[in-house]
Amino acid sequence: MTLEGKVAIVTGGNSGIGKAIVLELAAQGASVVVDYVSHPEATEALEQQLAALGDDKVIGVEADVSKVADLQRLIDKSVEAFGRVDIMVNNAGVETRTDVLSTTEEQYDFVMNVNLKSAFFGTQIAAKQMIAQGDGGAIITISSVHEDWPMPGNTAYCLSKGGAKMLTRTAGQELGPHGIRMINVGPGAVATPINAATMADPEKMKTLDTAIPLGRMAQPEEIAGVVAFLASDAGAYLNATTVFVDGGLMHSSPGL
Ligand SMILES: NC(=O)c1ccc[n+]([C@@H]2O[C@H](COP(=O)([O-])OP(=O)(O)OC[C@H]3O[C@@H](n4cnc5c(N)ncnc54)[C@H](O)[C@@H]3O)[C@@H](O)[C@H]2O)c1
Repeated sequence: MTLEGKVAIVTGGNSGIGKAIVLELAAQGASVVVDYVSHPEATEALEQQLAALGDDKVIGVEADVSKVADLQRLIDKSVEAFGRVDIMVNNAGVETRTDVLSTTEEQYDFVMNVNLKSAFFGTQIAAKQMIAQGDGGAIITISSVHEDWPMPGNTAYCLSKGGAKMLTRTAGQELGPHGIRMINVGPGAVATPINAATMADPEKMKTLDTAIPLGRMAQPEEIAGVVAFLASDAGAYLNATTVFVDGGLMHSSPGL
């Protein structure tokens, strides 16, 4: 597996799963554009970490992916810096942990815009660039087990990930003839900042670990390795589908 000569964009790339994906794609030889919306110091640290390994093929770009103009600028910056885009990773995501009765319009828009609108237009703009280049590409959206699996108390999040499922199923049909593969990666529970509250609560962690057949949360690197595989030629026949990386969580029956 190599990504030598490939150019990748990772949205929300300076923390958690996104950061691990940036490091893994760079380790496999890709040039990487790290999108971020906050914590510029984390992006700088990531650039320095890769520079120390002798890798200067990484740039940070500040862009709010819930805005189409920012997404366009992100893709333009990639072309300006590295000449092309081969791999688009729609990773940025947020949640409000609110149910259908309590979610406000503001919370709904926040979750849907960051998680789903960004994936839709990130796909559209990256695909137009890939079609202009003429030799295909891979668009990978970090979805969740919750693209299929209801999570009461996090309704808008589930809705956004369900939408991401149909984005990949449908756009995979439309873009396949251009050699562009659409794939979702659906993590279960991963040890990242998005789960800080759960990780700080030993009781919740015990319940979660019991529900996961492998008995533990994933580390971000265990998601990143799958993304690199899917982006490479080793994953060349995957399209319009989801690869769940959940330790068996989605199909477990704890306590039964
Ligand atoms: N951690 C898990 O258990 C888990 C499980 C399933 C799916 N996921 C998904 O993985 C993805 C990454 O989440 P994570 O767990 O690494 O958490 P995280 O909070 O570390 O990462 C989310 C990233 O998205 C960025 N972001 C938020 N709004 C943005 C915007 N408008 N523009 C650009 N970037 C923005 C954040 O700054 C952050 O870097 C998300 O899509 C999340 O839904 C996570």
